[in-house]
Amino acid sequence: MERTFIAVKPDGVQRGLCGEIIKRLETRGFRLCAAKFMQGSEDFMKNHYLDLKDMPFYAGLCKYMSSGPVLAMVWEGQNIVKLVRMMLGETNPADSKPGSIRGDLCINIGRNIIHGSDTLENAKREVDLWFKAEEFVNWTPCYQPFLYE
Ligand SMILES: Nc1ncnc2c1ncn2[C@@H]1O[C@H](COP(=O)(O)OP(=O)(O)OP(=O)(O)O)[C@@H](O)[C@H]1O
Ligand SMILES: [Mg+2]
Repeated sequence: MERTFIAVKPDGVQRGLCGEIIKRLETRGFRLCAAKFMQGSEDFMKNHYLDLKDMPFYAGLCKYMSSGPVLAMVWEGQNIVKLVRMMLGETNPADSKPGSIRGDLCINIGRNIIHGSDTLENAKREVDLWFKAEEFVNWTPCYQPFLYE
């Protein structure tokens, strides 16, 4: 089983899309492991997006990410990092296919409503950055035997 870090960004929260995003992840069959509603500092977001530090949009991105509440979550499932990235669509919503989260729910690259880890290595780093061990709940969904062979 893999875990990935997912955050509904401030624009997604403001637009009331937390429920829609959770619904898509739940109905796909992924398991929610940890969640918190929080507002991070600009320095925290700079650390989260450290690999983008040389990009021209880095400062604005980190400022925006810290401007309001985000819904931070860890989800688990078989091959989840790749599957969630496919569910998100492309970074630019304009390139995202209908049916994907960004392709259905947003328009602008700087307001693309959701973050999802892009590799297993980054997922591990982001899960550790955002969550402490005691914030995880260990539980088995009752549908588990009907979801996985
Ligand atoms: N060319 C750009 N102009 C403005 N903002 C951008 C641009 N490219 C990326 N961003 C913003 O920076 C975020 C992080 O960029 P990244 O390349 O990691 O894309 P991503 O992995 O699809 O998005 P995220 O990491 O938020 O899930 C994007 O989600 C987007 O909001
Ligand atoms: Mg990214």
